Amino acid sequence: MAPSTSRAFFFLLLLLILSLLLSLFYYCLLDQRFYLQKYHLDVPQRNISILLWHWPFGRSYRLDGDKCQMYNISRCFLTDNTSAFSTADVVVFHHQELSTGLSALPLHLDRPASQHWVWMSMEPPVNNANLTQLNGLFNWTMSYRRDADISIPYGKTILGSDDPGFQAAPNHSCLVSWVVSKYQAHQTRAGVYKSLKKYIPIEVYGSWNKKPLSDRKLLPTIANCMFYLSFENSEAKDYISEKLWRNAFQAGAIPVVLGPSRATYEALAPPGSFIHVADFKSTADLAAYLKHVAADRQAYEAYFQWHSTHRIKTYTDWRERLCQICVQYPSLPASRIYQDLESWVKS
Ligand SMILES: *[C@@H]1O[C@H](CO)[C@@H](O)[C@H](O)[C@H]1NC(C)=O
Ligand SMILES: *[C@@H]1O[C@H](CO)[C@@H](O)[C@H](O)[C@H]1NC(C)=O
Ligand SMILES: *[C@@H]1O[C@H](CO)[C@@H](O)[C@H](O)[C@H]1NC(C)=O
Ligand SMILES: *[C@@H]1O[C@H](CO)[C@@H](O)[C@H](O)[C@H]1NC(C)=O
Repeated sequence: MAPSTSRAFFFLLLLLILSLLLSLFYYCLLDQRFYLQKYHLDVPQRNISILLWHWPFGRSYRLDGDKCQMYNISRCFLTDNTSAFSTADVVVFHHQELSTGLSALPLHLDRPASQHWVWMSMEPPVNNANLTQLNGLFNWTMSYRRDADISIPYGKTILGSDDPGFQAAPNHSCLVSWVVSKYQAHQTRAGVYKSLKKYIPIEVYGSWNKKPLSDRKLLPTIANCMFYLSFENSEAKDYISEKLWRNAFQAGAIPVVLGPSRATYEALAPPGSFIHVADFKSTADLAAYLKHVAADRQAYEAYFQWHSTHRIKTYTDWRERLCQICVQYPSLPASRIYQDLESWVKS
């Protein structure tokens, strides 16, 4: 070979290797984009249609337009038009209406093989009656529980402050408040309340006490008090409702919590943000502690320190919850059947 041809040969070889490297690099990038599309939570690959079979508790909201776009979730379309059944990717059933017979399951219709049925409830197990009739029908569960297929908590803690200069309100006209509409003497929270009020005054609102608060009055009323009784109606796994996220945190009162274990609150609520009833040997001890914190400005303000590092987000709109299905859709189990829904709910 003449030196010039060998030079040309090597030059060509070099070019070949370079282009190979380049295409490898390009494919890696492409692959990463593919990976992101497949698994990145905000990027569903295609349009997903979600049919809400009936509205929870009979209250409906408008679904026209691209509602999920309001929450920055794209390619996610909600409908409550049951004639869209045959084309829906996901059909959502709210438990209350199924259990009471107010809505019937579309068992008479041909269920598309790739369609997923979702059982949805934001209620604790005691309020989910008549579950056995629903065995073997649902593919996914949707609830506040962390281990639900689609987890839709009442609220969540987010890293990053939105109000670094937050100051605990310096002026309170009351010590403790509690808003309760369905008081039942057999519930744990009723016993704790009755016992606690022997030691400290508690301002009670809500329909039980014939002092209902309008939506507009709720938070300002609670904000007048230093503490709020965020007592859940039952103590169930992960069940932390708006009684904590809205009533206490949004009003700026320290929540006194009764519900799941301290460990659960520690995992879900902002750090150092609550007082757990179970930490006290007696309600007398709890009352004494509340009085101590109320009298010690530093101790009181310590419960609000989380505002400089964390913030909370609450979920109240069913539409936002439904849009969450699309966010989680790419990572949901493709084939799953809840043969024994009741044991899952009660587990
Ligand atoms: C997704 O929905 C939008 C809005 O309806 C539509 O314009 C678009 O063509 C759809 N894309 C696919 C892949 O179906
Ligand atoms: C359970 O189902 C029965 C029969 O459908 C109904 O009468 C009853 O009200 C239901 N119970 C609850 C608590 O929803
Ligand atoms: C503190 O609260 C009391 C009772 O609600 C009110 O009368 C008073 O004006 C408040 N003081 C300040 C400084 O906000
Ligand atoms: C969903 O559950 C139904 C009823 O058990 C089952 O027949 C169907 O195969 C499941 N669908 C998927 C996509 O797994």
